[in-house]
Amino acid sequence: MNPIIIEDHLFVLHTQDTTYAFRVIETGHLEHLYYGQRLHATEGLVAALGLKSSYVPGNTIAYHASAPSLSLEALPQEVSTTGKGDCREAFVITQDALGRRTSDFVFKTYTRHQGLGPNPVLGDNEALPLPHDGARAPFDEGVETLCIFLEDRVQGTTLCLTYTVFYRANVIGKRATLINTSDKSIRVERLMSNQLDLSHHAYELIHFGGAWAREMDQHRTPLSRYEQLGSQTGTSSNRCNPFFMLKAPRANEDFGDCYGFNLIYSGNWISTLEVDAFGSTRVLQGVRPDTLSKALKPEAVIETPMAIMTYSATGLTNLSHQMHRFVQHHIVRGQWQYRVRPVLINSWEAFYFNVQDKKLLRLARRAKALGVELFVLDDGWFGDRDSDTRGLGDWQENLKKLPRGLEGLAKDIHALGMDFGLWLEPEMVNEDSKLYRQHPDWVLRIPNVDHSLGRNQLLLNLGLKEVTDYLYEVLADILEKAPINYIKWDMNRIVSDVYSPALEPSIEGQQALMHRYVLGLYHLLDRLTRRFPQVLFEGCASGGNRFDLGMLCYMPQIWASDNTDAHARVAIQKHYSYGYPLSTLGAHVSDVPNHQTLREAPLALRQTVASFGLLGYEMNLLTLDGTALKAIGDHIDFYKTYRQVLQFGDFYRLNPEENPELEGSQAFMVVDSEKKRGVLGLMQGLTTANRPQLRLKLKGISETTTYRLYNRHQQYSLRVFGDLVNAVSPIPLPKGSLRFKVAEQLYPIAGETFDLVAQGSILMGGGVRLPQAFIGMGYKDSVRLYQDFASRLYCVEARQIDEGL
Ligand code: GLA
Repeated sequence: MNPIIIEDHLFVLHTQDTTYAFRVIETGHLEHLYYGQRLHATEGLVAALGLKSSYVPGNTIAYHASAPSLSLEALPQEVSTTGKGDCREAFVITQDALGRRTSDFVFKTYTRHQGLGPNPVLGDNEALPLPHDGARAPFDEGVETLCIFLEDRVQGTTLCLTYTVFYRANVIGKRATLINTSDKSIRVERLMSNQLDLSHHAYELIHFGGAWAREMDQHRTPLSRYEQLGSQTGTSSNRCNPFFMLKAPRANEDFGDCYGFNLIYSGNWISTLEVDAFGSTRVLQGVRPDTLSKALKPEAVIETPMAIMTYSATGLTNLSHQMHRFVQHHIVRGQWQYRVRPVLINSWEAFYFNVQDKKLLRLARRAKALGVELFVLDDGWFGDRDSDTRGLGDWQENLKKLPRGLEGLAKDIHALGMDFGLWLEPEMVNEDSKLYRQHPDWVLRIPNVDHSLGRNQLLLNLGLKEVTDYLYEVLADILEKAPINYIKWDMNRIVSDVYSPALEPSIEGQQALMHRYVLGLYHLLDRLTRRFPQVLFEGCASGGNRFDLGMLCYMPQIWASDNTDAHARVAIQKHYSYGYPLSTLGAHVSDVPNHQTLREAPLALRQTVASFGLLGYEMNLLTLDGTALKAIGDHIDFYKTYRQVLQFGDFYRLNPEENPELEGSQAFMVVDSEKKRGVLGLMQGLTTANRPQLRLKLKGISETTTYRLYNRHQQYSLRVFGDLVNAVSPIPLPKGSLRFKVAEQLYPIAGETFDLVAQGSILMGGGVRLPQAFIGMGYKDSVRLYQDFASRLYCVEARQIDEGL
């Protein structure tokens, strides 16, 4: 394994299955040569892939008299600027004391390092608290870093491009550091993290937009001229997630070229995809320029967060697996890396603000009896918090609601044999709170201007050291005093009126406020997670408004969406799965009618969907009947039995492209790394009459192993059939009558049993035909009841490994 090869002026970065290459050309510029499938030699690489240029066409700019055939507009580059002929979007723009905005970066030197290496400029100790600083490998093997230093011939600054090769994950990380080596202050207008100049534009862009409770809406669009993705919410945003993909038009889950991109950052970001005059594509990723922009004094340094890229020659499933492995190996911290996550009960949709210790304990007792391991006390436990209009900032327990305090409740929960978790929203404050009254200048707001509120609250300025120091003390105190195993860290508004009354009222005093906020947040999280490494943090920002790799460096899991409707969740969780592993996705079973959509999805669907994520229950278990409670207990047992594979297995999307008979259904599958166990989930949307046949091709198991495939039994109530029951019943059973109710209790309907043994090659190559679905022609127990929002869970277990095939 030799991840970085340097020959003469050629730099080649290898991951296990991919190669990235660039070189220094005669003028000192960096020419991007290649990013794609693994190459096995360097001989001829430049001759084959280097730009061949004999003239500069028409009104294009020639770089210099000594290089008359070089146009920076036509050169695929590693770093681009303005002013020397490249009229595409630039990677870096600075303005010097003379007002010049032209830059011309040329190669100076390089260094290489094991692992992430030192921060190229500042040295480890002074490194800015960006989350990639913690993105260490559990085994550093195969992680190497290359720093390329360039100098600006015009303005005299120095730029360091840092490339980190995550060999096994097939990921390359890129970031930039700019040092003002000139003798006057400059203004940094933009500094991106990654530039990738691709030689053509025959790609489809897949990105994920959305809104609150509608995270990860998938959009697919062919590249034509210019696409801009990004966020201005102050967070990475549910309006557009920073993860996106490019794929060859015909590529699908199992076939074809595709690239995945993400950014290890939680604030405003931008990605642009520009098709240039010659049909090439420039991808840029980084912090939104107006968020990062600042003045830089001589010798001062500015560093960007790390962007990451992956390439797959074999379709989107492999791309996702590479992203998943990267998150699990290099993003998730310490002891949580491969630790199975507890099944939890959350009090929010059960009681909202109306929490009270006796009621909470009753819920906890019931949950414990069903196998739940972690009790999470959500909003409402502190200050005067009876609604969302007040209390945020006052993190002292409300003794009317919790007379024995947090400590007392936490101890009672522990005495039941459960872990205790707590909701907090540390970055926020209500105007109606003691904290705001004490420190009105700690918030982001413009003095003497009406402030626009979100959920009645204001942001504390985490860019101020006194604020993060204060929060550190308050939170550390809470975690010290009560036995708390888990924190749900919420953040429920986006930004507006960004200004700090505590900072100097000047352009420089207020610059880069939101970036400083994000750095302050990271610093706080870094301190807390170092001091309390054993506490499981779950990120949340009104659901998935900050679902990103930056937060995942500190919080091993994130609440994926406030939308707990199972049907909506199928798409939400499926789309997260393109870039994030199931071990990061909070997924809860909630009550019906659903609190966001009023849909009545059957319990089985709610359970199936939540199984493909980190299972929790978020409903009032005290009001359920015995049948529902039994179904919940059984489901939790099932989940625990398969938890390792459900949380950490290889995840497959079974799409209608390969399974045309799926029609309105979606199917997911997870398989363990040894291909011995798997779980297949089938989730129906709306049913179509008389489409009773369904054949599914399994994925991810071994061709040569024989497997048993069987379903989890389901039990139905007579109610499923309504008045149809009277077509077969010897006695009339009017709907809603007492007689009907008695019959319902006496005659539960057993769903179909499905159990077969077959070799993996058959189950994957040919597929498996499921029992005929109900089509109104009578019912027997071999029929698959497959009404709207039906679902199935199937287990896959290796029986024997066939030899000699
Ligand atoms: C946000 C979260 C919810 C819940 C509430 C509490 O909306 O996303 O899960 O914690 O806040 O106020």
